[in-house]
Amino acid sequence: MNELSQRLQRLSPSETLAMSQKSNELKAQGIDVINLSVGEPDFNTPDHIKEAAKQAVDENFSRYSPVPGYPALRNAIVAKLKNENNLEYTPEQISCSNGAKQSVCNVIMTLVGEGDEVIVPAPYWVSYPEMVKLADGTPVIISAGIEQDFKITPSQLEAAITPKTKALILCSPSNPTGSVYSKEELAGLAAVLAKHPQIYVIADEIYEHINYIGKHQSIAQFPEVRDNVVIVNGVSKAYAMTGWRIGFIAGPTWIVKACNKLQGQYTSGPCSVS
Ligand SMILES: Cc1ncc(COP(=O)(O)O)c(C=O)c1O
Repeated sequence: MNELSQRLQRLSPSETLAMSQKSNELKAQGIDVINLSVGEPDFNTPDHIKEAAKQAVDENFSRYSPVPGYPALRNAIVAKLKNENNLEYTPEQISCSNGAKQSVCNVIMTLVGEGDEVIVPAPYWVSYPEMVKLADGTPVIISAGIEQDFKITPSQLEAAITPKTKALILCSPSNPTGSVYSKEELAGLAAVLAKHPQIYVIADEIYEHINYIGKHQSIAQFPEVRDNVVIVNGVSKAYAMTGWRIGFIAGPTWIVKACNKLQGQYTSGPCSVS
């Protein structure tokens, strides 16, 4: 008899982590492998960050951190969003977690329930549909092939929306394709979303700084959808800090508060030294 919960039986294991493990095994056998699985930057955490961490250890940043993260960290994120993205947020609109992965999952768990549909443009990061399933929601996949640079069009989005659509997960720059939505392309999607205020956008911007095409644009810049957008970002990819586990969301206060509530019963605040 299978005693696992229905929830776990529905869940597929992370293919990315499985590929990564396989490549490590092959490397250990002396085989020359190029590992294209986990998004691990090709440089080390910069020295000034390492020095700050050593100082944090010496200054006893070793206790539980506040669930949404230290105020200094949230203030720094508010400043980042203003300086790099020209977006205004307050510290109450920021919640830090143990990585962008947890942040995406927090938002999905907070917003999505049984019967809700979540639109996921393909090719997608493998965790998105699994997280939606974990929340008892239904992933709705829209395909964007190479002929459209792996980006969905406003008409594709419109066609995928039903009365049950709760959210769209938009990853730009995209994992796995590297495609980057331009401001004009995002404006087109925002115009469709503005007609459907029951839909929330989970804007995964973790690859903001791994962008070889143009300036990073956030869909949160459009006032007509701004109150329905939750930005997900973190330090993993931009600062080669994948193991430090710091992610964050920026979004409407009620969603941020709900994520804090969830995280408070689940993992508590992010790593204090990080
Ligand atoms: C699209 C995407 N979002 C989120 C994450 C998770 O980032 P973190 O390491 O901060 O949890 C990854 C990591 O590979 C990713 O590819």
